[in-house]
Amino acid sequence: MPAITARDLSPAFGSEVSGLEPRVPLDDETIGTLRKLFDERGLLVFRDIQADIKFQTYLSELLIGNDVPDPDALPLNDKFMISNREPKGAAPYGRLLYHSDQMWSAKDRVDLISLYGKDVGQPATPTMFVSAVEAWKTLPENLRRQVQERSAIQHYDEDVYRKRAAGDPDVLVSTYQTGEDFVTTPIALTHPRTGKTILYVCQQTTQKIAGMPEAEGDALLEALFDHLYAPGVELAHDWREGDLIVWDNLALQHARPNVLVEGPARTLRKTLAPFPKSMIKGPKYASVAEA
Ligand SMILES: [Fe+2]
Repeated sequence: MPAITARDLSPAFGSEVSGLEPRVPLDDETIGTLRKLFDERGLLVFRDIQADIKFQTYLSELLIGNDVPDPDALPLNDKFMISNREPKGAAPYGRLLYHSDQMWSAKDRVDLISLYGKDVGQPATPTMFVSAVEAWKTLPENLRRQVQERSAIQHYDEDVYRKRAAGDPDVLVSTYQTGEDFVTTPIALTHPRTGKTILYVCQQTTQKIAGMPEAEGDALLEALFDHLYAPGVELAHDWREGDLIVWDNLALQHARPNVLVEGPARTLRKTLAPFPKSMIKGPKYASVAEA
C-alpha cells in the first residue's frame, strides 16, 4: 500500500487522509497509523474512495480500538441512510442543532460515526463539526471552575428544541421511543479511550444543569454554548459523492444547516460503532414548525 499522508483541515481537529486503499483486512501498520491519527484529530476524511458497507463497518470498529479477527462475521447494515431521497431515509429534511448521537442515552454510547457519500447532488448541504475537547481546553477559567464538578441532564424534549431553535422553524425534531428518561452526565466528561476531557453539553439535548436554579443554569449553559459554537471554531465538510468521513462522536459534535426534500440528492450511508440497540426502531421526525 502507498504511504498514507494526512493534511490538517483545521488547527484543532480534522485531517484529510490520502493513500488509503479500502481493503479488508488492512495491514497492522496501516491500522496503527489510522488509529493514532483518529485519536489525535477526531475526524478523518477520505475522498474519492470506493467504500462498501463492509469496509465502512470494518474501519469503524478498528478505529475505536476493536480488533476484528473475522471481518466476514461483522454484522452489516447497508440500509441506514441519512437521506432526502430514500423512502426510509433518516433525518430526511431540516436543520440539525449541534449534538453527539445518543448523548441522551445511558445504555447505548456511540463512540464513532461514519458517513459515506452514496448519492450527492450539488450544492450539497455540509455536515458541520465542533470539537468539545478543544472547547474544554480553551474554556475560560471562570466557566471551568463553575462546571468542573457539575453534571448536566440530557433528554429529548420538544420545548428545549423550540427554545434552542431560537425561532428557526426548519430545525428538525427527532422523537425516539426508547423508554429512557432523563440521563445525568458529568459536564467535564473523561473520554473513555483517549482520556481527554470533553465539554459534554450540547444545544440539541442538554436540558439543564443538575442542582442549579433554572435561570442560573440556563445562563451558564448559554455561556458554554457561546464558547462551544463560537464563530471561527466550526469545520464544514462539503459533501461530494465518494467521500467517507469518520469521527469521534464523543470528542466532536455535529450539526447541519437545512436540508430540503426537494433539494439536491443527499444520501449518506451511516454506520455507528458500537451500534446502539435503542436506535433499532426509527425515530419520528417533525420540524419545530410542525412539532
Ligand atoms: Fe447525529
